[in-house]
Amino acid sequence: MAHRETTAPFVGHHPADHEGSIKTPIYPTSTFKFSSAEEGAAHMETAYGVPGAATPKGPNAIYSRLSNPTLSAAEQRLSAWDESEDAAFFASGMAAITTTFLAWTSADRPLWFCPPLYGGSEHFIREILPGLGVHVVEVDHLDHLDAILEREGGRKPGMIYLETPANPTMQIHRIRTAADWARQHESEDHRMIVGVDNTYLGPILQRPLEHGADVLVYSATKYIGGHSDLIAGAASGKTDAVARIREYRHFLGGMADPNTCWMLMRSMETLAIRVRHQQDVAEQVFAHLRNHPKVQRFISAWSVDLPDGDKAIAEEQMLGGGAMAAFEVSGGRAGAFRVLNAFKHFQLAVSLGSTESLAEHPASMTHAGVPLEVKAQYGISEGLIRISVGIERPEDLIADLDQALGQV
Ligand SMILES: Cc1ncc(COP(=O)(O)O)c(C=O)c1O
Repeated sequence: MAHRETTAPFVGHHPADHEGSIKTPIYPTSTFKFSSAEEGAAHMETAYGVPGAATPKGPNAIYSRLSNPTLSAAEQRLSAWDESEDAAFFASGMAAITTTFLAWTSADRPLWFCPPLYGGSEHFIREILPGLGVHVVEVDHLDHLDAILEREGGRKPGMIYLETPANPTMQIHRIRTAADWARQHESEDHRMIVGVDNTYLGPILQRPLEHGADVLVYSATKYIGGHSDLIAGAASGKTDAVARIREYRHFLGGMADPNTCWMLMRSMETLAIRVRHQQDVAEQVFAHLRNHPKVQRFISAWSVDLPDGDKAIAEEQMLGGGAMAAFEVSGGRAGAFRVLNAFKHFQLAVSLGSTESLAEHPASMTHAGVPLEVKAQYGISEGLIRISVGIERPEDLIADLDQALGQV
């Protein structure tokens, strides 16, 4: 069988279905004509789950909030990269994440989560989900799941959610531990899913489904899109997990639009070469920064930078350290700002995973809303700078870092 890298970039498109067009057309339409009233009724009654609905025949598209050929093509392509059973694209990473939480948690199905998480996810969990009646439980370590269940009086979660490596401090969580526990504790009337935010490494460098996760969520704005020119999100995983998420997407209305899906299709052709090249550039940049006299602390998901416990987990479940890092300079916020303001090739902007290198100040930017004590607990200090390495020549990025670090 051909390699995933030979087939996945092109999955979802069949030229014969599109006048021989080598690329997938964009379908800028809100609705689709039925061939008969009977077919229309079968489609709509099936979509709404009306008992006894006839099986619809003909093309699947009905209405673009529910499905669209460009959306379906992009979803098949992501699914091929992840080797998942199904995938769904959303208008943003947060749309994918919040729809997943709403689909898989409820008043009697708590959400158990492993902080630290991306700030937006953490805000939704701590500030919004409890107001909707969902009990949320912080998991300090995945080895403590039994103790937490006891403390919770035996009330099992509907979902265990984690992000690994975590943003921006690179804590590593062992996916297999959460998955094994969920399999042991779920039952026929209590399906329990393990969700992993796989944004940082993406389908090329980390494959959580192979370690037992049920669903992955992505900010596709990052490596999957990869060019800082779109906002999108995705959920990808087991059939039942994604089906429920897609059902909620139908009613919450957070699907990705056809133009964005076309751009995602194009981006996913180069996913592997971009991510691998960015990782190669990062390897050289990180080797320089790791021992730089102006760098007080260097954090990355590369094995050499991880504490011993995390190193073993990283070797078990990660296929590379990726192209993200954070480093601390002296002088607190003022020192970090001097460096950030001096960059010439690194662009001063939030986000990550793009072709251009980016730099930002987590304490006042991506993590501005995180309480001070939580920032302190996770080492998000005032002198910390986060970088995302792009596709530029490593020697130019190193020279840029040297001159910017010369400011402190
Ligand atoms: C790890 C992670 N998850 C989720 C998100 C949210 O994605 P989006 O901004 O596409 O909504 C981000 C955004 O920075 C992120 O870094």
